[in-house]
Amino acid sequence: MKKKITVLPGDGIGREIAYGAMDVLQAIGQRFGHEFEMETAEIGGAAIDQEGTPLPEATVALCKQSDAVLLGAVGGPKWDHHPSGVRPEQGLLGIRKALGLFANLRPITAYESLIDASPLKKELVNSVDFMIVRELTGGLYFGKPSERRGENQEIVVDTLYYERHEIERIVEKAFEIAMARRKKLTSVDKANVLESSRMWREIVKEKAALYPEVKVEHILVDAAAMKIIHQPKDFDVIVTENLFGDILSDEASMITGSLGMLPSASLRADGFGLYEPIHGSAPDIAGQDKANPLAMILSAAMMLKYSFGLDAEARIVEQAVNEVLNAGYRTQDIQSDQGNTVVGTKMMTRLVVDRLEENHATSGILTCYL
Ligand code: IPM
Ligand code: MG
Repeated sequence: MKKKITVLPGDGIGREIAYGAMDVLQAIGQRFGHEFEMETAEIGGAAIDQEGTPLPEATVALCKQSDAVLLGAVGGPKWDHHPSGVRPEQGLLGIRKALGLFANLRPITAYESLIDASPLKKELVNSVDFMIVRELTGGLYFGKPSERRGENQEIVVDTLYYERHEIERIVEKAFEIAMARRKKLTSVDKANVLESSRMWREIVKEKAALYPEVKVEHILVDAAAMKIIHQPKDFDVIVTENLFGDILSDEASMITGSLGMLPSASLRADGFGLYEPIHGSAPDIAGQDKANPLAMILSAAMMLKYSFGLDAEARIVEQAVNEVLNAGYRTQDIQSDQGNTVVGTKMMTRLVVDRLEENHATSGILTCYL
């Protein structure tokens, strides 16, 4: 198989982890005879520095010509008060919108070897496995107007805007995902307060008639936040509005022990996708070889599965990550006891790549990857 991948490293730790994921893809390509042609482009703060805009046209064009996109992370305090008023995050929101990536899949999987890294009780988190399906190109993130008003700019407005078809397509996607899993769908809204949520609930009920095998429940977002901590095993697929999904997925990451473990896929109806970890650019640890590369590597695995249909290859990457964790290797964010070996970003990546290469020598002496 021959595929063209655009890699957008972005800012902060995004740069360290994105290059590592490219090595992972290269190793998979070599092992299975696939040709992954990878080209990098700038987005976010790095693009502001180089071109004055967080989303250069050339970046969008390159993504559109490729079969899939891999993204590190964007943002950092350096660009908080840029004279032009632009923010790195506009690049990320812009590329999601420009590519029509409305369905954001965020799997929440508890790794057995990381159970102790979770701040939650073992019996609550072991074997948790659910999927948050977050609407990604509408809602509060994209509603107009979004501005300050009044003579002294004392009034501020953000708008939660949805068109019916935008809710329909994400709900349909979530039902399809539920059909391929344990056939349970939890729709999360705030229907006791928001009109948009009442329409959301109405649409979920309509679509439910087309998927009679799927058990559907509706939960208010505040209650859902509680249940994610209280009974996380009760979830299979959660579908929700853009901002609710953003918040709930960070919360849910604590089940796995670290935000550094969570991958995501942002998909269009035709399967085209952008793959990125759900964590941010972590400027406090950027450039120090401390970042956990596993969310990024697992995002690359999601790309193999969802955009290229390479399920076996994706599973092998996931297995390699599992093996490395089972062997006791940890980055600092998932360190839980003294028996673990704490390694840096490069070494963690190398350990995974080693296991992907056919003749890996896992028990040999590890040389640090430069
Ligand atoms: C995420 C991030 C982004 C979002 C930020 C960086 C704009 O938090 O992907 O979850 O809010 O969508
Ligand atoms: Mg977020």
